[in-house]
Amino acid sequence: MAFRISSQLERIPLTGLCGGEKEDEEIVAEIMRRRFFPALITHKAWEGFHFAGHEIRITEATDCYGAVVWPSALVLCYFLETNSKQYNLVDKNVIEIGAGTGLVSIVASLLGALVTATDLPELLGNLQHNVLQNTKLKCKNQPHVKELSWGIDLEKKFPRSSCHFDYIMAADVVYHHPFLDELLLTFDHLCKNDTVILWAMRFRLDKENQFVGRFQTLFDLEVISNFPSLNITLYKAMRKGRMKARPSKLTV
Ligand SMILES: C[S@@+](CC[C@H](N)C(=O)[O-])C[C@H]1O[C@@H](n2cnc3c(N)ncnc32)[C@H](O)[C@@H]1O
Repeated sequence: MAFRISSQLERIPLTGLCGGEKEDEEIVAEIMRRRFFPALITHKAWEGFHFAGHEIRITEATDCYGAVVWPSALVLCYFLETNSKQYNLVDKNVIEIGAGTGLVSIVASLLGALVTATDLPELLGNLQHNVLQNTKLKCKNQPHVKELSWGIDLEKKFPRSSCHFDYIMAADVVYHHPFLDELLLTFDHLCKNDTVILWAMRFRLDKENQFVGRFQTLFDLEVISNFPSLNITLYKAMRKGRMKARPSKLTV
């Protein structure tokens, strides 16, 4: 098994869907080809994407971080689409945190998941619009949009006893903001022993990048793809020290 070595981080196993420079260039070009723009400039800003056999139109606002589609979201969508056998989302319970414009939630819904797309209250109008516009009558399970401000009212809004998510998805949620503690708390609250976290991390400044090390105190982390030209790594994570399923019969 290959390993990526980082000065700040432990050795993280690299299961490597994308290892070398060539794959980086080729796959990044393929990911970026999924984006298209309106032929005519209209009063509404939107961007188009091709994923999961659908043309997806995302309305953007330019006044906050969550109102544009970030490259990490494209990386995660591409991964979901191209690995839909191994990560079969049909009827799986998925929550996306920091969903922004909603592209990842939309693609997960189009792939059959039962999705809850979450973000700050001020983002929910545009998020709801995009989710509805792109999933209505196209999905097995209609997605929900719900407020989740990291670290706030978690037990009240997402009680541990009744909420079970098969997947937590997050794209570009670590950057220069003051809520990194709350973000970690949120992952911890939502993650059960069998929950898989799929997290696309864009590496920027050292200070925020150290979040990965803190994240590893709670979760086992595996690199599933790596795009140096975008400074984006896609991680799979599961809770540390979870009980592994025991074999039903002892084999000698
Ligand atoms: C860089 S954007 C990424 C958006 C989207 N995931 C993407 O990749 O296109 C970061 C997202 O995190 C959300 N966010 C930031 N701080 C948050 C907080 N305290 N609670 C919940 N969401 C937050 C923002 O509103 C925004 O949607």
